[in-house]
Amino acid sequence: MRAAAAAASTGRRGIRATASADARVLCSDPIHHAAVDILRSRGHEVTTMDRTSMSKEELIAAIGEYDALVVRSGTKVTADVMDAAASLKIVGRAGTGVDNIDIPAATKRGVLVMNTPGANTMAAAELTMTMIMALARNIPQAVESMKAGRWDRKLFMGSELAGKTVGLVGLGRIGRTVGQWCRAFGMTVIGFDPVMSKEAAEAAGIASVPLSAIWERSDFISLHTPLTSETRDLVNAETLKQCKDGVRIVNCARGGIVNEADLLAALDSGKCAGAALDVFRSEPPPPESAALVAHPSVISTPHLGASTKEAQLAVARDVAIQIADALDGTKFVGV
Ligand code: NAD
Ligand code: MLT
Repeated sequence: MRAAAAAASTGRRGIRATASADARVLCSDPIHHAAVDILRSRGHEVTTMDRTSMSKEELIAAIGEYDALVVRSGTKVTADVMDAAASLKIVGRAGTGVDNIDIPAATKRGVLVMNTPGANTMAAAELTMTMIMALARNIPQAVESMKAGRWDRKLFMGSELAGKTVGLVGLGRIGRTVGQWCRAFGMTVIGFDPVMSKEAAEAAGIASVPLSAIWERSDFISLHTPLTSETRDLVNAETLKQCKDGVRIVNCARGGIVNEADLLAALDSGKCAGAALDVFRSEPPPPESAALVAHPSVISTPHLGASTKEAQLAVARDVAIQIADALDGTKFVGV
């Protein structure tokens, strides 16, 4: 950092961030201008992207100049990016989780990594409810048929939520919020989370069950976990086989939690009556995912879970304040 100031502080992971009055901050994904305003008002120099994320090559060429990096989902902060980041002290993710950042590579180089948990909970939970309802009533398909000039009343027989069981995998901020709202629709809400206690789940109105019961009992399964070695391909041929006939799957969490080929086979066989997908193993989905996206029982959105004005403002504001505080060496939030 240029003009490095006096104090140095130790973050929660034992990583040192040195205070600076004028750090150089790169936002390699487009971000709400609130982040730029806050960082500049705290004395930092900020470079932003207008519309598109930086390519990996552009990022590697530029990153050596910067003390802090702000990303959303588009930028993958891989070990080779870290290798080029001679001055980097902090990576701040304007979103939930840090799965697009190579944490071992960051830790090895003493780079602090932070995220903004909670800032987009409402947005992601609301999209999930929208997906559950749209799936149950075939809304996107009916809209498409109206636009094509048809009046297909018989084709779009729906299914009520009241009286149905929703199985939530992951009972963190979003999972618990979705659970609360599903209860308001008269659904039975069951959930699995290896970390959440039975009491905490029950306090949120969710019956804590083993994972096997999620597959066996749910009419709708909604995923709300990070992508980890335990959750990768969690919904697969084997687990789908254990599900009720006509199960509906919702993934507004992370691509890769659902095995896309196995889901397509379950949709083709009719085992799975529908799927709502906001996220994909690879984004945008490659040509080999086209059959899944095009399947008549699949509704999908291009990773819109956090795409509300309110959530984008909140994540931008949170990440900017967190980075500025860490650069000052005063607070280490979201690490
Ligand atoms: P959170 O950290 O509050 O909750 C995640 C929960 O998953 C935790 O309670 C954790 O114990 C649980 N979990 C971890 N491994 C598990 C496993 N193997 N089985 C069951 N549960 C497990 O996170 P959150 O804010 O609720 O976010 C949930 C997911 O949604 C994250 O992957 C996040 O990145 C994603 N998300 C997506 C969007 C979007 O744009 N689609 C927006 C926001 C969040
Ligand atoms: C998140 O995890 O916060 C989201 O997937 C949204 C995003 O990265 O834009």
